[in-house]
Amino acid sequence: MAAPDMPIRIGKKTCKNRITMAPTVKFTAGEDGKVTDFFVKHYGLRAQHGCGLICVEATAVSPEGRLAPTQIGLWSDEQIEGHAKIVEACHRYGALVIPQLHYGGLGTHPACGPLVSPSPILWKRGEQELPARELTIPEIHRIRQCFIDAALRAKKAGYDGVQLHGCHSYLINDFASAVNQRTDEYGGSTENRARFGCGIIQGIREACGEEFLISMRVSGCDPTVEESIATAEYYVKAGCDYLQVSNGIQDVSALPHDEGLPYNRVAGLGVSFHEHFRGTVPVSCVNGIRTAELARYLLENELADTVDLACGLLADPAFTEAILNGTPYVKCFSCKRCSWGPGHSHICPALKKRDNEVWEW
Ligand SMILES: Cc1cc2nc3c(=O)[nH]c(=O)nc-3n(C[C@H](O)[C@H](O)[C@H](O)COP(=O)(O)O)c2cc1C
Repeated sequence: MAAPDMPIRIGKKTCKNRITMAPTVKFTAGEDGKVTDFFVKHYGLRAQHGCGLICVEATAVSPEGRLAPTQIGLWSDEQIEGHAKIVEACHRYGALVIPQLHYGGLGTHPACGPLVSPSPILWKRGEQELPARELTIPEIHRIRQCFIDAALRAKKAGYDGVQLHGCHSYLINDFASAVNQRTDEYGGSTENRARFGCGIIQGIREACGEEFLISMRVSGCDPTVEESIATAEYYVKAGCDYLQVSNGIQDVSALPHDEGLPYNRVAGLGVSFHEHFRGTVPVSCVNGIRTAELARYLLENELADTVDLACGLLADPAFTEAILNGTPYVKCFSCKRCSWGPGHSHICPALKKRDNEVWEW
């Protein structure tokens, strides 16, 4: 049985427990993409309350690949200083901390740059069908270099490593998925579709060294669960230390799932990956883990190596303590207000309830 407070080795680092904070964009940065004091307090608070690893939200590696004009970035040296403050705030409490490096692809905001994709397609966004332009080989190489440069800046800021955003229809996911119809070395076989992600991993490993943690947040079913596992195997061979499993382009609702299980389909993808990668790299489950009981269930039954928490930790920074020690906490009530997206306020009403009670930092 793996107790939630058991330390775990991830790559060359040790995480003090099994609770990790999932990336959650706040859309509060200025056009310069710099981290403000808000971010330092936001992440520092979750570290202070025991979270073992903090994954800082989707961080743009290049301004034209942003998912919103208000996204934070690591595309310029001027952005390093702000990130260093997040690192200091999290390390002070013994948490590992990594930023999630991101390039939009099919998820690019129109105000930031062109919609680009491995192949020219019509991409459905809401009611609209938007034409996405095919990336050329030099462009692919340039974006790969942007990831590597951003990872080097992350290292300079003091981060323990990086996570690559390889799910939710963003560029690394686009390459691995069925929208990739290329016939060159970046399309066709699973190995070729994994090549973009693998090239980034190898480049970061070379530039940042063996100690630097490299994690990939993968889609667990693009185009199928089996193929996603095969893609992730290439990522691991290329040097990825840690997998978080989420969803991607493929609709998960059609996947078979035993409704009697206490966890949902997306978390179930993580369970399948964990079974497959047991003994190779740690695997984290995410999605719908919003009660302390469910987090403990997944860990104690060894269905996941770590649990990755988004809304639960937005609602209550002390959710980690509730899982570890059974202390009371304010539950996320799934109002979805935090998911409204760019331009909206992200104040979680559950968090507001306790604001003056404990959130001094
Ligand atoms: C406000 C908000 C922002 C998010 N931002 C990101 C992000 O930056 N990167 C990412 O991979 N997922 C992002 N997600 C998805 C979460 O990391 C997580 O996968 C999802 O919320 C399901 O987990 P939960 O049930 O614990 O909330 C975001 C979710 C929310 C609600």
